Amino acid sequence: MVKAVLAFAALTGLAPLTSASSASDYWRRQPQRRDVSPTATFAPVPSTSPTVSPIVPNPSPNYVDSFVKPCGEAFSLNGQPFYFAGANAYWLMNQTNDWVDAAFGNLSAQGIGVVRTWFFNNGYYNTVNGTEQAFNDSPEGIGHLDYVVKRARDYGIRLIATLANNWPDFGGTHYYLQQTGYQYHDDFFTQPELIQLYKEYISHILNRNNTFTGILFKDDPTFFAWELMNEPRCLSYTDIKSQNCTTATMTNWIDDMSTYIKSLAPNTMVTVGDEGWFNEPSLVDNWLYDGFNGIDFETNLQLENIDFGTFHTYPDHGWGAGTTGYDLSFEWGEQWIRQHRTVGAKVGKPVVNEEYGFAQRTDRMSYEQYYYAVTEDIGIAGDLFWSFWIAPPDGSPIAEGNSANSTYTPGLNYYTNDTDWPIIRQHVYNMAQQNLPKGQADFSCFGANNMFCSETAA
Ligand SMILES: *[C@@H]1O[C@H](CO)[C@@H](O)[C@H](O)[C@H]1NC(C)=O
Ligand SMILES: *[C@@H]1O[C@H](CO)[C@@H](O)[C@H](O)[C@H]1NC(C)=O
Ligand SMILES: *[C@@H]1O[C@H](CO)[C@@H](O)[C@H](O)[C@H]1NC(C)=O
Ligand SMILES: *[C@@H]1O[C@H](CO)[C@@H](O)[C@H](O)[C@H]1NC(C)=O
Ligand SMILES: *[C@@H]1O[C@H](CO)[C@@H](O)[C@H](O)[C@H]1NC(C)=O
Ligand SMILES: *[C@@H]1O[C@H](CO)[C@@H](O)[C@H](O)[C@H]1NC(C)=O
Ligand SMILES: *[C@@H]1O[C@H](CO)[C@@H](O)[C@H](O)[C@H]1NC(C)=O
Repeated sequence: MVKAVLAFAALTGLAPLTSASSASDYWRRQPQRRDVSPTATFAPVPSTSPTVSPIVPNPSPNYVDSFVKPCGEAFSLNGQPFYFAGANAYWLMNQTNDWVDAAFGNLSAQGIGVVRTWFFNNGYYNTVNGTEQAFNDSPEGIGHLDYVVKRARDYGIRLIATLANNWPDFGGTHYYLQQTGYQYHDDFFTQPELIQLYKEYISHILNRNNTFTGILFKDDPTFFAWELMNEPRCLSYTDIKSQNCTTATMTNWIDDMSTYIKSLAPNTMVTVGDEGWFNEPSLVDNWLYDGFNGIDFETNLQLENIDFGTFHTYPDHGWGAGTTGYDLSFEWGEQWIRQHRTVGAKVGKPVVNEEYGFAQRTDRMSYEQYYYAVTEDIGIAGDLFWSFWIAPPDGSPIAEGNSANSTYTPGLNYYTNDTDWPIIRQHVYNMAQQNLPKGQADFSCFGANNMFCSETAA
């Protein structure tokens, strides 16, 4: 694996994919393994490697004051590649300042420079009554986001900020529908009244002036990207879908919303936050691939104001099992990662595996090593595990994942004391290594937040 070569191939427009694929066959292609397989034995990761510099809050202004940009099929920062392995910590907006500090401290110590987190708490941050919307800007309300952003900035961590939820956790589309009297889940994406309410919310958040930094959210390079919604679909488990929601419905909404966000925050990247469903019903008769959920990954990625693609990977949640042509969910996961990279290359934009997780917690280490090797090998621009969780700093006994209004599967959490925490660290390091300037052998510190220092560093 020649990571630096891959990185620069991507930036210079050379096709980094080693296997040619035609539009007609890549859906059914069997996994093409080179040096990785589900049964491969991986060397143990030494606990002392990779070397990491001491944590220095407040990285150089040059670093924190520049926006990460799309650059071909990858990202760039200050003219250098910006590959990353990051984390989901959706709950930062709903925990105390101490907890936010502990989270960023531990993530930064792991070398992590990109964190995806919720920028909504509907019914609390915003309350809706018909066409009326009120905002709770108190320090305990939307004002708490100021602290999250300030601390991320201190650590040189960038945020993927998700602005709404398809699911009812923390309100979501269900809350908006309830408060406006609409019936169908997809009314959220089509009814002018609901579109207007959501644009008002987006505008209120993006125009916020951070009380700690004095920087408007929309002008702050701490934001890696604004994300339209967590896992938008035509349907949810709380509200039925109408008879007229198709992938075109969602594409229109994504186009409208992404264009609106760009008009407010032209320097910040915009992405969808979807699970990456394909719309190829004639090729694969399966709900992941046939447009059933109203998402057409390839069409959406082509939209002018969508800067990169997102997909989620849950191989042992029934996504992979039973999929036509793939007996092993394990192999399906690899295929899923490769397929999104292939479409990214076709469209010429980066793709991010922005959620991946494993229900088989005790067994997940072998999955991780397998997928990490593939991810690093084919030049996926970034990935983020689902999801980081940390015990309350005050020692109080709060069950994992048991955040307010959340029903997320607790078994999916990652703790700093998990046996695979060093595996993730190695992956963070490997992804960051792709950012090394070409031919600069004595470059001492690198990584998505400059956390990794080479052996030769003074
Ligand atoms: C979390 O959100 C709930 C409302 O969903 C709110 O009552 C509570 O005060 C919030 N807690 C923090 C620490 O933000
Ligand atoms: C990690 O989190 C714990 C609380 O769970 C905290 O005590 C510790 O200081 C954190 N570590 C760092 C490096 O911030
Ligand atoms: C919602 O608006 C209606 C009509 O303006 C009003 O009568 C009602 O009291 C409002 N409800 C709440 C909870 O504010
Ligand atoms: C959050 O959960 C509480 C307790 O179950 C409930 O009263 C409240 O309505 C929920 N809030 C939202 C926004 O769903
Ligand atoms: C944001 O707040 C700071 C500090 O109060 C102020 O100096 C700055 O002018 C504000 N920015 C805008 C655009 O209002
Ligand atoms: C969408 O479908 C529902 C039935 O599921 C129907 O009542 C509604 O009028 C349709 N809306 C449009 C705009 O066609
Ligand atoms: C890891 O830390 C969590 C949170 O503090 C704790 O609940 C769990 O028991 C710890 N696991 C091990 C194996 O020590």
